[in-house]
Amino acid sequence: MGLTKRNVTRRVRSGFGEAIQPTRRAPVRIVGMGEVKNVLTFRSVLWNDRDLLLQWRNDAVTRANSITNTFISRPVHEAWLRDSLAQPKRKLMIIEDENLPIGVLRFDASEDGRVEVSIHLGPASRRKGFGRLALLQCEQLVKEWLPQAHELFAKVKRDNASSRRAFEAAGFVETRQTDEIIYFCKQTESRKHC
Ligand SMILES: CC(C)(COP(=O)(O)OP(=O)(O)OC[C@H]1O[C@@H](n2cnc3c(N)ncnc32)[C@H](O)[C@@H]1OP(=O)(O)O)[C@@H](O)C(=O)NCCC(=O)NCCS
Repeated sequence: MGLTKRNVTRRVRSGFGEAIQPTRRAPVRIVGMGEVKNVLTFRSVLWNDRDLLLQWRNDAVTRANSITNTFISRPVHEAWLRDSLAQPKRKLMIIEDENLPIGVLRFDASEDGRVEVSIHLGPASRRKGFGRLALLQCEQLVKEWLPQAHELFAKVKRDNASSRRAFEAAGFVETRQTDEIIYFCKQTESRKHC
């Protein structure tokens, strides 16, 4: 069955507490026919997620699309995760569909109220609209984590078409480019201009 664009009802819940209701029905790509209810939920990364995170991080496509694209060894990964879980300025969130983990969001806050957003999905969960849907929820997730944040930004490799389109579809706007990277930003509700 091919990919079909349809309006589907999706409920998106934050891992922090109350359900977040989407403001509108979003046209999304789904596999199959008929009404499909997808539920994306977000929860904080746990130490027990380390194997899955390492598997996703070392996936060839993820590495090719990462600014640091070296293969990560288990000890290096575990040291990074231990440090990340202890850092107040970093938030790692597992994205779940139907209670199954499909990818990870990383938020890195800087002193000036800006938050860098990074995303990667497991190979089986790509090209189904989940990236765009998860990125659409970032503003709310960041607001719950860091209410004073006023701007989200992301760095995307120029040749990463799916990531560029997912960020754009989630309301991020391009601010500048270098030979290798496109910078995107999205102001939070409290400050709506880049
Ligand atoms: C990048 C990523 C998060 C995008 O999420 P996704 O769920 O696969 O993308 P979506 O299905 O939401 O599609 C987003 C848009 O990209 C398009 N797209 C998806 N895959 C594509 C591809 N391989 N080439 C071109 N466009 C593509 C979709 O058609 C959609 O565009 P539309 O809204 O105009 O229809 C995901 O593919 C991923 O994790 N990739 C590996 C890691 C990575 O690249 N991370 C980002 C680093 S900045």
